[in-house]
Amino acid sequence: MSRRVRLGVNIDHVATVRNARGGSHPDPARAAEAALAAGADGITAHLREDRRHITDADIDVLTALCRRAGKPLNLEMAVTDEMLAIALRHRPHAACLVPERREEVTTEGGLAVAGQEARIAPVARTLAQAGMRVSLFIEPSPAQVEAAAAVGAQVVEFHTGRYCHLSPGQRPAELDRLAAAAAQAQGLGLEVHAGHGLDFGTAGEVLVIPEIVELNIGHFLIGEAVFTGLDGAIRRMRVAMDEAVSGGAA
Ligand code: PXP
Repeated sequence: MSRRVRLGVNIDHVATVRNARGGSHPDPARAAEAALAAGADGITAHLREDRRHITDADIDVLTALCRRAGKPLNLEMAVTDEMLAIALRHRPHAACLVPERREEVTTEGGLAVAGQEARIAPVARTLAQAGMRVSLFIEPSPAQVEAAAAVGAQVVEFHTGRYCHLSPGQRPAELDRLAAAAAQAQGLGLEVHAGHGLDFGTAGEVLVIPEIVELNIGHFLIGEAVFTGLDGAIRRMRVAMDEAVSGGAA
């Protein structure tokens, strides 16, 4: 029997478009409702320190919305006191610790957990004690996986941006690196997620890795929604993911 991989939909870019005009349209909460209606298993949102897309008010609304719908909200956050306080106030289902640089266009690489254990471990512990599932967004490297386990994370989310940017001919080596890291993580008792830069094709490709149980996808789905609607984009992603784990189109 093939597994069912969960799809978390990242709605940050709905807020990016809204903020371009400073009004309230398009509303990320409405996008979250549409995503859940289309079959998303959860909603992911990144409250960045500069609030360039998702705002504090969005997190208020999304927390309530996901709670009402009985679906997980995955809050992506930098490892700062401010974000920790916000997470503790809202207590979303999950908190995913990510690196953040103000000048970056998007989350450019994984969190350097190795070497920063003393800073990350207390934050991970506080979040977990408050009932959140703690995930670390890391590169698929043995040192980062080992450090993620050492600081007490329950989940690692592997950054697939590098994989997606490589040409198809260069991808097999990076897929091997992801697969090895996934096996190592599962061996250490960590749940394995993946995300960043995925589209219909690359989402299917990374799902050859059997340890992956969740993908978090944003930019491509919101972009694709311009052409097919959010409902159509998410349903097509669901089919692509299901086909990938069942070994191809029926
Ligand atoms: N997972 C994490 C931890 C991220 O930071 C992001 C981007 O915000 C994503 C998944 C989704 O990446 P994309 O928008 O490229 O699909």
